[in-house]
Amino acid sequence: MGKYIIAGNWKMNKLPSETYDYVKAVAAATAGSNCEVVCCTPYVCLANAVEAAKGTHVKIGAENLHFEDKGAFTGEVSADMLKDIGVDYVIIGHSERREYNNETDETVNLKTKKALEKGLIPIVCVGESLEQREAGITMDLIAIQIKKAFAGISAEDAKKVVIAYEPIWAIGTGKTATAEQAEEVCGGIRKIIGELYCPKCAEDFTIQYGGSMNDQNAAELLAKPNIDGGLIGGASLVADKFAAITKAC
Ligand code: 13P
Repeated sequence: MGKYIIAGNWKMNKLPSETYDYVKAVAAATAGSNCEVVCCTPYVCLANAVEAAKGTHVKIGAENLHFEDKGAFTGEVSADMLKDIGVDYVIIGHSERREYNNETDETVNLKTKKALEKGLIPIVCVGESLEQREAGITMDLIAIQIKKAFAGISAEDAKKVVIAYEPIWAIGTGKTATAEQAEEVCGGIRKIIGELYCPKCAEDFTIQYGGSMNDQNAAELLAKPNIDGGLIGGASLVADKFAAITKAC
């Protein structure tokens, strides 16, 4: 299946002044890991993160971007700006941005296309709420999120996209999806990608699980055939815990 990628999503945590040393600590603690290691940081931490990651295996990602190239968009950051400082990845459509910042399937699609155009690797987040899971519409909802996110994207470009399955009810709650639940949805996502593009392309996709993933449960989740990595919130803020997840690959 896809290449293993363990990405930390720092969210609104850590200061710019803490970033350099912390990324160095992540690089040291994750040395020899059998996966790509990514730290996604707040915008203001990115330059320090990139500096610290230079000459190491760690890649740096942003937590968002704007879909326009430039112009009168106060407070926004473009793909060119991220590329210019040496960022490689960008998280798109995190459920927190969908909830608090009016992110929609349409803006996710525009941002994904812009990231690909500019050579950033998008980590596109999808996932259901507890109500949607209990209503039995998880896969229907995720099929819509995936189809809209990938609208107008060629198979060649699509393969560069990382998909993160993050059930909203598992984020920051300590309530992880069971490995079986996560595998079922990640396998379903791979099937949808296979139908949108081709079954062979789907095999090459990296599909991450995210939601209370930690050093205790990572090995079981990552052992599943359709889970090719993790998008880690809380546990990415402590270098040793984050490193233990990368070692579970
Ligand atoms: P937690 O690992 O803190 O549950 O967060 C998951 C997440 O939202 C990563 O993007």
